Amino acid sequence: MATNASAGHFLGIDGMARADLEEILELTTTFAEIGRRPIPKVPALRGRTVATVFFENSTRTRMSFETAARRLSADTIALSAGGSSLSKGESLRDTIEVVTSYGADALVVRHPMAGTAHRVAAWTDAAVINAGDGCHEHPTQALLDCYTLRERRGALDGMRIAIVGDIRHSRVARSDVLAFTALGAEVVLVAPATLLPPAVVGWPVTVAHELDLVLSDLDAVYLLRIQHERITEGLIPSIREYANDFSLTPERANRLPTDALILHPGPTNLGVEISAAAAADSRSVILDQVVNGVSVRMAILFLLLGSNRNLTGGAVEGDR
Ligand code: NCD
Repeated sequence: MATNASAGHFLGIDGMARADLEEILELTTTFAEIGRRPIPKVPALRGRTVATVFFENSTRTRMSFETAARRLSADTIALSAGGSSLSKGESLRDTIEVVTSYGADALVVRHPMAGTAHRVAAWTDAAVINAGDGCHEHPTQALLDCYTLRERRGALDGMRIAIVGDIRHSRVARSDVLAFTALGAEVVLVAPATLLPPAVVGWPVTVAHELDLVLSDLDAVYLLRIQHERITEGLIPSIREYANDFSLTPERANRLPTDALILHPGPTNLGVEISAAAAADSRSVILDQVVNGVSVRMAILFLLLGSNRNLTGGAVEGDR
């Protein structure tokens, strides 16, 4: 049985205060230090069980949550939609009930529908972590991106960051815009009009349609994959034309300031949104993002299971 009867959740960056984000990022530093030890393991969550419940493909997010859980000595169980009874018609709610009854204290949920993690949180006593819900949010990705930027720059305040590509279908872009701006950065979205969300007017960002015009004035450039799995209509003329206008080629990378950082959440489509040379550029922190993903997820699991905090919407009552 789940032992975490009044579990908190981590569902999105939306609604989080700067101080809450900073607290998680500070704690992440401690877990990053543990990750550098010869035996990168502490007993903090011994006896607890973390379930990854993924209804969409994943390499980094899933493996880093599993690695994070094991480094905290938690047990892990995993469900992938493809290999589960969902394909036999079982409902999401029944599936969640089954996973919880195996003793999961935390459910790390990824699903193609926006809002799924919020729904799951209403059904279970376990702590729910949103590992990506459709085009909506991917909050742990935003935290690891902020951590990576802070690690290199000390703070995001005053940084000018371009997020380039398929903003419309990207949960990473949504969570990053919220987190980067909450921490004091200025964000410029760069995309063809068809790949911008209809509601972009209300976002705390500026918009540009030409990458070449913004490159020389950036502290960081964040490239996004075209989310083909979420695109049903023709939104770009062709991949070649898209790459022509928006790919971070070696020539474009040369026009970035010498200390600008290059980020990508992965998986990269080399030759489309970023060239192999730009991904391997000395200013690229793409692999740092992968490494930092484990430390950030250790911090989140620890805060939820080790200290019973509710990260979305403040502390659990009586906890502060
Ligand atoms: C992202 C995702 O799943 O939203 N990947 C990830 O978690 N590292 C981005 C993407 O799939 O393009």
